[in-house]
Formats: sequence, structure tokens, C-alpha cells
Amino acid sequence: MTFKSLAVLTSGGDAPGMNAAIRAVVRAGIFYKKEVFGVHRGYDGLIEGDFTPLHSKSVKNILSQGGTMLKSARSAEFRTPEGRAKAAQQLRDRNIDGLVVIGGDGTFTGAHLLSEEHGIAVVGIPGTIDNDLFGTDYTIGYDTATNTVVECIDKIRDTANSHNRMFIVEVMGRDAGFIALSAGVATGALDIVLPEKNTTLEDLYASIDRGAENKKTSNIIVVAEGNRLGKPFDLANALGTKYPELDIKVTILGHIQRGGSPSALDRVNASQLGVAAVESLLNGKSDIMVGMVNGQLTQTFLQQAIYNKAPLDMELFRVSKILSI
Ligand code: F6P
Repeated sequence: MTFKSLAVLTSGGDAPGMNAAIRAVVRAGIFYKKEVFGVHRGYDGLIEGDFTPLHSKSVKNILSQGGTMLKSARSAEFRTPEGRAKAAQQLRDRNIDGLVVIGGDGTFTGAHLLSEEHGIAVVGIPGTIDNDLFGTDYTIGYDTATNTVVECIDKIRDTANSHNRMFIVEVMGRDAGFIALSAGVATGALDIVLPEKNTTLEDLYASIDRGAENKKTSNIIVVAEGNRLGKPFDLANALGTKYPELDIKVTILGHIQRGGSPSALDRVNASQLGVAAVESLLNGKSDIMVGMVNGQLTQTFLQQAIYNKAPLDMELFRVSKILSI
């Protein structure tokens, strides 16, 4: 198929670097003399026909900005066959031959169905702070979010040190512990509680006892949002009951982790992946995600990217245990 035009959208949770990816898709499309449309508000905008033509200048000065200029949404209607049929029709009505979607597993699930049910050519760019997609070492936004978490925990550490306190810090990651693990190692956490691991209260007691034997006076425990052990306030209660002498505070970092100017790594990855997505579409590829593994560009079928679990580096967890004595 000879492509004349393509569209780009962002969907799911916003992530720093999504704008850099939009810019790369738009500029690459124009470089190859294609018309490029932006779709506002993710799949909701696609269903409603909320398109805007984008030019090279439309994406000036967004490389360094967090959020997404196209806005994002988690569309309930797109999860229905009727919603996807409407979306496909909107693309056909405008003679748009291909769609680049920037998002996470929910976004890719929808894109795969759009391609399967309606033959629309789709390519995904991994954009989520969670880093939980198979087929890429880094998703756009993960590096920035991790740096934000590290900056926040460093500040919390100042108070923990000054008051001999323990802090339980909850970070994002509904199903994946990438942010928790990296940020925990980077901030010298006493323990890290991950969705991928069956951590027990006894494990935490052992870490606390070991820290006490080594005369540690301040402690940070990093817990991922989707951990299996419990909510941070419940954990604080449980630990407070066992160790009444401890002064335990809870901090939930929340959406601060999703904002801010993207790191250099996220900007570079977004730029490379944006160009790769357009070139893949123009080369006739569809139903794939472009990614980066060991510094090399890769292509993974959307279904594989979604259904295979992105492996967490458990060696890094072992390292954290050695270093948190
Ligand atoms: O998928 C990214 C993410 O930030 C998760 O870590 C988190 O659980 C979720 O989005 C929160 O989503 P929302 O902003 O819709 O509450």
C-alpha cells in the first residue's frame, strides 16, 4: 500500500516524553512527504473524529514538555466492537492509511483489535512510566519518572535522617515494580516491596532487625502501588504494632511521578522510536510495537508485547538486599 497520510494519538496514562514522540512521528511523516493528523483525547477522540492536521511547526517547542499536547484518555467505548467500528470509519472517511499509537498495554490491546477487526495499519510506541511492556528495555517516561521518585525520596531521606524515622514510600506501578526496584536501589532503601514478589511481613521484620543490629537510625521502605503485601498505611500499622518504638511515616508520591520535563534518555528514545514507527508503517508493517533492546531497534507483535510479562531484573533486587545492611 502506498501511504498518503497517517494519524498519531496518545492513550492511557500520560508519560514524560510522549510529546517528544509525537514530534518525532509528525516530523518523520512530513520528512517522507505524508500528511499527518493528530487525534485528540486518545481513542475517545478517534471515535468522535477529533482530528487536527499537524505540520512541522505544530510540534515546535514540545520536545522538553511533559504531558501530551494531544491529551490522553482511557476510553471505555473503544473497548466495545461498536466503538472500534466507529473509530475505523473515522480513519477511512479521511483516507488515513495508518495509525501510530503511543501508550501502554491497554492502548496496544485496542490497537491490536482495530487492526484485526478492521484491517487498519497500526504501530505502537511504548509510552508508560511503568516500563511493563515486553519487547523493549525502556518505555518512554520510565526514566524521567524514576528520576523524579529518586529526587523525592532523597528529600524524604533528609527528614528520615534528621528525626530517626522510618518512611514507607509508595510509588506507582499497578502491576509492575520497575520504578520501585530502580528507585529503591538508587536511594538505598532498607527494603523494596514489589508486585512480582511475595514479600511477607516477616521479610520486612527481618530487614528491620538486621538494620537495627547494624545501628541504622533512619529507614526507607519503597513499596510499589500494586504490591501483594498491602497498602502503605496498613503496612505502617502492622510494623508499628511490632515495633512500637519506631516513628513511622507514610508518603504516597502519586501523580507527581507522571509530570515534568522528560529526561535526556526519554527524549532520545522517543525521537528514535517515533521515526522507527513511521518507517515501519511506510514499510508495510502493522500490528507491531517498536522498541529498544540493548540499544537496538526492535519490532514486537502487539499481542506479544501485551501478553508476555516484561521481566524484572531480580538480580538487582539481590543487589539491593546486599547493600541495605
Ligand atoms: O500506567 C501508568 C500509571 O501511572 C500506573 O502506574 C498507575 O497505577 C496508573 O497509571 C494510574 O492511573 P490514573 O492516572 O488513571 O489514576
